Amino acid sequence: MDRIEIDGGTRLSGELKISGAKNAALPLMVATLLSDKPLELSHVPHLADIATLGEILAQHGVEVTRSETGDGDALTLSAARITSTLAPYDLVRKMRASFLVSGPLLAREGQCTVSLPGGCAIGARAVDFHLKGFERLGAEIDLADGYVTAKAPNGLQGAEYEMPFASVGATQNLMMAATLAKGETVLRNVAREPEIVDLEKCLVAMGAKIEGAGTSVIRIEGKSALSGASHRVLPDRIETGTYAMAVGAAGGEVTLIGTDALNLEMVIPLLQRAGVQMEVIQVGDGIEAIKVSRNGERHMGVDVTTEPYPGFPTDLQAQFMALMATCQGTSHITEKIFENRFMHVPELGRLGANIKVDGQTATVQGVDRLKGAPVMATDLRASSSLIVAALGAEGTTEVNRVYHLDRGFEHIVTKLQGVGAKVRRLTN
Ligand code: EPZ
Repeated sequence: MDRIEIDGGTRLSGELKISGAKNAALPLMVATLLSDKPLELSHVPHLADIATLGEILAQHGVEVTRSETGDGDALTLSAARITSTLAPYDLVRKMRASFLVSGPLLAREGQCTVSLPGGCAIGARAVDFHLKGFERLGAEIDLADGYVTAKAPNGLQGAEYEMPFASVGATQNLMMAATLAKGETVLRNVAREPEIVDLEKCLVAMGAKIEGAGTSVIRIEGKSALSGASHRVLPDRIETGTYAMAVGAAGGEVTLIGTDALNLEMVIPLLQRAGVQMEVIQVGDGIEAIKVSRNGERHMGVDVTTEPYPGFPTDLQAQFMALMATCQGTSHITEKIFENRFMHVPELGRLGANIKVDGQTATVQGVDRLKGAPVMATDLRASSSLIVAALGAEGTTEVNRVYHLDRGFEHIVTKLQGVGAKVRRLTN
């Protein structure tokens, strides 16, 4: 199994290009199921999760073609004919986001049978809000043998639904389903993540009548059919934040190119308070970039709580903890989105971090220096936190289970090598 080795303690410097967002690209790919016309996506990151979703869509009858460009991958997806409305356990269990096929299949074909995704390393992760929303839109739901069967033989009917919690996936699933329902749907207390705004943009380009993404109420006027469209995936705010934290941990100066600072409005001031300089600049043809630097002084401990957007993202919690491991003072990090998202704590401990967990809060007592060691993690963001920690640590760290990183960080090794990190991928 592949592993990544990092000789830490080298300051980072240079430029690093930010990729398209995995968590935007996945629902955008699923949106192709809503139309019999092709959807063209550009700036798609080349990642294992994208390939997995491509396989899942293919077994529903979607033709997927990929080509490499100088700006990420270009995907053309064509769902001229849906050949199956069954999403089997073997595929859904690989990636929870694949549950998103249920809304579009139900809306376009009047039925679907999709495996329940089940729990995952970071928590139980139910889909009850998705299902309650489908019921509001007039579907009959049946749960048996680990599968959800949803039926609406006469089509979905627009309705109002207020979500108990602003779930990202349920918002995306219900938004997509409602584009083909009869009449108006109003979704309240929805998630406001930038990836939802990106999905709305693409659906509008496909001819959907929809407004409100980015606020807590989304209104959709259903259409009888949607068309094809071309759409560029927005930049990855989690990748941007991860590399900014890596610079914070290792020191140096790196310009993160092609990102959108507006989508990091909670993250930038927090890093600045910790003593990491962040300057938003324009490079080239109005391309936005963030110049990140930390020189001299060790950074400071600051507290943070994860929250739905625009709060601090849970997907950056582990990386922030890795940065805080060597802060001056103490940092309290509270996880409010997932019940079991501290699995990186013992691994950071192997590098010498002093972290104690009490319920939902981790207290990080900064140490002068971490020391390299063999480590492994059980999920994508936890793995990236080990990379952040290793870059600032003394000596060599070996990060195992690299397949987690392959799910969500495009070309991580070459990108880090490009800014001077001593990092290599070993295959055996
Ligand atoms: C998305 O997952 C992201 N995944 C996650 O990123 C991210 O951590 C999460 O949003 C929160 O920001 C993708 O976009 C593909 P949720 P999602 O529904 O949609 C509970 C990564 O590393 N809940 O907002 O699955 C749920 O159990 C991944 O890239 C219900 O109880 O997240 C969780 O505690 C990890 N019932 C909370 O809500 C439901 O029906 C948030 O889940 C739905 C959710």
